[in-house]
Amino acid sequence: MKDAVVLVTGAGRGIGRAIALAFAARGARILLCARTAGEIRDAAARCSEAGGPGLALRLDVREEGEIEALANRVGRELGRLDVLVNNAGIYTSAPVAETTSAAWRETLETNLTGPFLLTRTFLPLLRRSAKGHLFMVGSIASRQAFAECGAYCASKFGLLGLTEVLREELRGDRIRVTSVLPGATDTAAWDGKGSDAERPRMVRAEEVAEAVVAAYALPPSSSVDEITLTPAAGPI
Ligand SMILES: NC(=O)c1ccc[n+]([C@@H]2O[C@H](COP(=O)([O-])OP(=O)(O)OC[C@H]3O[C@@H](n4cnc5c(N)ncnc54)[C@H](OP(=O)(O)O)[C@@H]3O)[C@@H](O)[C@H]2O)c1
Repeated sequence: MKDAVVLVTGAGRGIGRAIALAFAARGARILLCARTAGEIRDAAARCSEAGGPGLALRLDVREEGEIEALANRVGRELGRLDVLVNNAGIYTSAPVAETTSAAWRETLETNLTGPFLLTRTFLPLLRRSAKGHLFMVGSIASRQAFAECGAYCASKFGLLGLTEVLREELRGDRIRVTSVLPGATDTAAWDGKGSDAERPRMVRAEEVAEAVVAAYALPPSSSVDEITLTPAAGPI
């Protein structure tokens, strides 16, 4: 894993930041992407302290032009990408009847179109890797419907479908594709939502990250198709 080039979207906080740090601790080179410059700069500094150089790169996953510019830069400066972690996502909640078109579009563009654009744009660089791996962070809401989660469930069900198609399409390139489906995970995404008393029962972001790194560490002959992690004490 040492010197693997790993790009993580949504790496400024939460699950993405934990995944970036877990790869950095194994000596990988981390490209940390999100919109909030201060958060990715801080996370990149932590990666470098942990043992893998971190580079903060501002990116809005909804912006095709920004993604293309980033891929050109990575190609020019590093020549390949070993791991792409499509993690950036937003949670929106409202009954379908009250979901605004703006909220619907923002959720689908961030959680589904963003991973599509990143994957399509970075595929040529992933194909140059001797051990390419694509991680798509969905949710248990990729399989299970929750009331008042129409846009979120639609985006995450769609992402799971896209991920399963990519797994079939990329077998010939020896790029492994893993769906990561966390249940409730204790991140800032829960701030102001639900009860604080439930937070200690949630999955830790670091535990999701360890599962991701373990899937990458397996020899290329086997593929972890799906990682589902839920609170051991029961659903939240
Ligand atoms: N926490 C949970 O319980 C849970 C459960 C299941 C699945 N998930 C999934 O896990 C992923 C991470 O969730 P989290 O809980 O870690 O969320 P979080 O703490 O809110 O972090 C989300 C990250 O995504 C980035 N992001 C959001 N919109 C973006 C955009 N348009 N372009 C680039 N970056 C963007 C954010 O940075 P900026 O805002 O600075 O851009 C931030 O770094 C999401 O896909 C989420 O759906 C979370």
